[in-house]
Amino acid sequence: MKKRFYFGTNTKMYKTIKDTVEFVKSLQEATKDISREKITLFVIPSYTTLKDANETKDEELLMIGAQNMGWEEQGQFTGEISPLMLQEVGTDLVMIGHSERRHVLGETDEEENKKVLCALRHDFTTLLCVGETEEEKEYGISAETIRIQLKKGLYGVTKEMTKKLWVAYEPVWAIGVNGKPATKEYAEEIHIVIKETLKELFGEEGTEIPVLYGGSVNPENAVGLSKMEHIDGLFIGRSAWNADNFNKIIRDVLQESR
Ligand code: PGA
Repeated sequence: MKKRFYFGTNTKMYKTIKDTVEFVKSLQEATKDISREKITLFVIPSYTTLKDANETKDEELLMIGAQNMGWEEQGQFTGEISPLMLQEVGTDLVMIGHSERRHVLGETDEEENKKVLCALRHDFTTLLCVGETEEEKEYGISAETIRIQLKKGLYGVTKEMTKKLWVAYEPVWAIGVNGKPATKEYAEEIHIVIKETLKELFGEEGTEIPVLYGGSVNPENAVGLSKMEHIDGLFIGRSAWNADNFNKIIRDVLQESR
């Protein structure tokens, strides 16, 4: 039995302020009887919703995260949002390097690294996303790709800083409407690579870093994935954007695999 399981959703560029507030309220209501000793629950909505989402959240029940962050406190970075601005609206968590940031918006490992360091130095729980493309998988270099993303993305992070570090494995080919979910066996294989790399980088502290799987998680595959030894949580898009559906996945996982 695993000590704690993580459930989170990134609502991408979908929910407005009104939608997000309703979603957070309904999700809290639906899951409030589940002990937070067993689970960590988080929602990562759009920037413009953060103030309201943070005011709506019950911090005993869930965390609110930002989908991205600039790596300086202030400066000539038009269009960026700084760590101070995220703190000002009460944000707990920052996601860095989501597949769409890397592959649609062109972010590099070097940029993710600056953001990770900045987020951890500002005491945010920091969720670094990694994942190989379909082409990299075809070439048989998934493990190499993931190791590079981790080693570059976490360059300069100290053992001490890892207390607030989480990692999500999200294969690019598995994400979104055209994605095909990874099999639980394949996900487990890569999670083992991630855990080994984190141990290599941070020693025993590295073994404490939660590693979540994301990419077409759905009501059919959630329980199977959650039973894999090296999967510490599920990071869900489409299947979690309705609070009742998300609640059902959480309960199925807790009931069948914990
Ligand atoms: P999906 O999204 O579950 O809709 O594939 C996952 C993600 O982008 O984090």
